[in-house]
Amino acid sequence: MSRLLWRKSILALAGIILASGFGAAEAQRNLKAPKKRYTGPGTTPNLRNIIIGRCYHYMSLYPATGVKDCSGVWQELTDAVFRKEPCNITEEDYKKLAQVTAQTIPCDKSLLWSRTNDLVHRYTKATESFMTLEDTFLGFLFNGLTWCGKTASPGMNYNACPSWKECTNNSLSSFWKIASATFSQASCGTVHVMLNGSADGAITRKESMLRTVEIPSLNPNKVSEVKLWVIDDIQGQDRNSCNSESLLELQHYIEEHNLAYSCIDNYKPLTTLQCVENPNHPVCNLCSIR
Ligand code: APR
Repeated sequence: MSRLLWRKSILALAGIILASGFGAAEAQRNLKAPKKRYTGPGTTPNLRNIIIGRCYHYMSLYPATGVKDCSGVWQELTDAVFRKEPCNITEEDYKKLAQVTAQTIPCDKSLLWSRTNDLVHRYTKATESFMTLEDTFLGFLFNGLTWCGKTASPGMNYNACPSWKECTNNSLSSFWKIASATFSQASCGTVHVMLNGSADGAITRKESMLRTVEIPSLNPNKVSEVKLWVIDDIQGQDRNSCNSESLLELQHYIEEHNLAYSCIDNYKPLTTLQCVENPNHPVCNLCSIR
């Protein structure tokens, strides 16, 4: 072998060794590269059993709902998110799930809310005269649960899911958007809204579901009036009431959607319900109840 050929062979060999070294280093780096880690809690353990259990429970609580295909509901959820990137899920992906869970909402029963999660649900439990989204079949099935898919096995991410703010088209926010829109579109007659007069700042968040999805989804041909209840926390301050600027702005927004509007401060049945947990508060004195 000539000297030149010998030198070339050595160089080529060195090149191969270096290249494979770099390749290994690159592979090593890829292995070590942190995968995108979402910041919200992962899929609720035993999600399938919970949803199917809730499905049968709802049918037993409300036989008028009719017979629902509980395995079919699970199948539609799976089709929407399984093995999919969780920041890539749109309302369209949940369309069939919304269809198989559709129900008739009786007129004058819909109760929307913002920043009153606890009181509003205590109220619907106490009276059974109203229905929030979480009392509908679809809302009942998924309330308080978390879920998201992942492209790799096992197809669902049990460690972490995107939080609401992490990406626009995430598996949870897209679901609640279509659920809210479906509920509002199905509402008729007087629609009530429970708001928190003691909460900081504006009466609703600018990006709240109530404002961005539910009010725009109400059908002015079916909804005769949107009636707001502004309720202060019993121990809280009176930061907003029907005549405060934030409420007038909301009134304007509702009217812009061709909906009639009315507003009541501290609706008495709600104050009475608050008194169940605060019986000794001065406003709970039956002679002084506001
Ligand atoms: N970011 C974080 N959390 C959100 C977001 C968001 N963008 N949107 C909704 N949520 C979740 C949170 O868990 C929050 O506690 O919804 C809850 C309610 O948020 P509020 O500001 O109190 O109310 P709003 O956004 O108007 O949603 C309530 O939507 O759930 C339906 O029909 C229901 O009328 C009700 C309305």
